[in-house]
Amino acid sequence: MRKKIVAGNWKMNKTLEAGVQLATEVVNIAESELNNGATVVLCTPAIHLSAVAGVLKSGKKVSLGAQNIYQKESGAFTGEISAEMVKSVGAGYVILGHSERREYFSETNAQLAEKVNLALKYNLTPIFCCGETLAQREAGIHIDFVKSQLSESLFHLSPEDYAKVVIAYEPIWAIGTGVTATSQQAQDMHKELRTHLASKYGKVGENTSILYGGSAKPSNAKELFSQPDIDGGLIGGASLVARDFIDIAKAF
Ligand code: 13P
Repeated sequence: MRKKIVAGNWKMNKTLEAGVQLATEVVNIAESELNNGATVVLCTPAIHLSAVAGVLKSGKKVSLGAQNIYQKESGAFTGEISAEMVKSVGAGYVILGHSERREYFSETNAQLAEKVNLALKYNLTPIFCCGETLAQREAGIHIDFVKSQLSESLFHLSPEDYAKVVIAYEPIWAIGTGVTATSQQAQDMHKELRTHLASKYGKVGENTSILYGGSAKPSNAKELFSQPDIDGGLIGGASLVARDFIDIAKAF
């Protein structure tokens, strides 16, 4: 089923104290104002997950996610965090393949396929990110590029496993730049991706929730979410302000 989802990606922001305060504000506003059935997820820094899990227990409308996991189950990987650990602190989601991780940590489609497998093994819903650079868009290769990100990391999955995946299309040129893709640019790509997913997984592929990310904010969320193939958003900067974040979730 195509769920309406708004997920906040806090990236590397907020001390523990500030993060707990932000999560508390998000829960309070969501509990009193959010009635449209949207699923709201907070993807916090890993070190905040346990504490924020405690905060989220005071309501029912906000879920917890991580921003990454390592591509191995366990063992001698100093500094890394496993899918099982993320699950054990109460998260239900994990962002995988964000463009910042692909760029700064050289994550490849093959590594991401392994991360997707582990996320699913431990019952974490992957929010799988894809998106092109401005140069790729200007060269006219953006659609094929983004399709290949999906096929190379996801198309080994069985339909049953694939059905649990959420996609986030985040054009790199729109992330943190204040330049949002126009609703038409986003819709066009989402439609291409849905067709691509349906060509592999049929109805299951067609029913994928595909989120848009890149300078989404309260003032443009309504127009983005009204597009037929946009099922929600993955929100960076605006997720750091509780009022703005929930106003985005209310925009369906
Ligand atoms: P901004 O909303 O800050 O552009 O970030 C988008 C993003 O990268 C979410 O994962």
